[in-house]
Amino acid sequence: MTQHFIVIGNPIAHSKSPDIHADFAKQVGLDIRYARQYCPDNQDSFIAVVEAFFAGGGVGANVTVPFKQMAYELCEQRGGLSQHAQVAGAVNTLMQKEGHLYGDNTDGQGLVNHIQQLGWQLDTAKVAIIGAGGAARGVILPLIQAGISQLTLANRTLDKATTLLQQLRQADTQIANAKTQVCAINELTGHFDVIINATSIGLSGEKLPLQNSLTCVYAYDMMYGRELPFLQHFAKQDSQISDGYGMLIGQAALSFELWTGQQPTTAAAAFMD
Ligand code: ATR
Repeated sequence: MTQHFIVIGNPIAHSKSPDIHADFAKQVGLDIRYARQYCPDNQDSFIAVVEAFFAGGGVGANVTVPFKQMAYELCEQRGGLSQHAQVAGAVNTLMQKEGHLYGDNTDGQGLVNHIQQLGWQLDTAKVAIIGAGGAARGVILPLIQAGISQLTLANRTLDKATTLLQQLRQADTQIANAKTQVCAINELTGHFDVIINATSIGLSGEKLPLQNSLTCVYAYDMMYGRELPFLQHFAKQDSQISDGYGMLIGQAALSFELWTGQQPTTAAAAFMD
């Protein structure tokens, strides 16, 4: 019998998730239908879409911009949340468990899995994350669980980084016990094993105020696409670089596994256009 899945977002037409999940299903021999689901940007509409989908026998839903926090709130009120979703304050994967809505967040572990697939060492790594919004929040716990030795959180608005780290330290003992610090982006200097761009700056044309004395072995941009200025900056310094396309596939693979119990292969090259 065909199993039904959706990705809920606004906008949603550009989403690559249906293609990625169709490939996973083919790999493991499952009969699925995975559709893009547009939703008006308000809570009532989002709840109506989720309720109708699961009432109609849907198996699992991905949630993308701008609904990840709404999905978190819905699961908090009506069902359950994984530890990663709780700490991230956001849900990207919905399913039903024992008749209740359950939310998880696979974004951060998707990043960690991709970085490890690249062969970049995270265990004992000195890591800097630039950005202190939702994207940064979702990856901090999985990175700490991957064994990094210290984390510097750099943000344009320093207060936001300070508040985020305070909240996360209260929410999770592994984060509270980790070696962490905050700074402004233009004060981020020295050498790191890995620097991750988690700002929304992407291809906007704006540039981060990076110091020349800031260097790294590996630079990762959570956005994907060619010619990301952040990656170009570190490529000139001979750092190894990666965009976030493999993270997109990594988070999808983890959602797929949560829903179906099957572990697909995530070799990113298989999904490039
Ligand atoms: P997301 O969910 O993608 O993380 P967000 O919560 O809006 O989106 O956070 C955006 C992040 O990108 C923030 O860290 C923001 O910095 P501020 O907290 O100072 O706003 C960062 N950002 C966006 N545009 C930026 C720019 N031009 N320069 C530096 N940082 C920028």
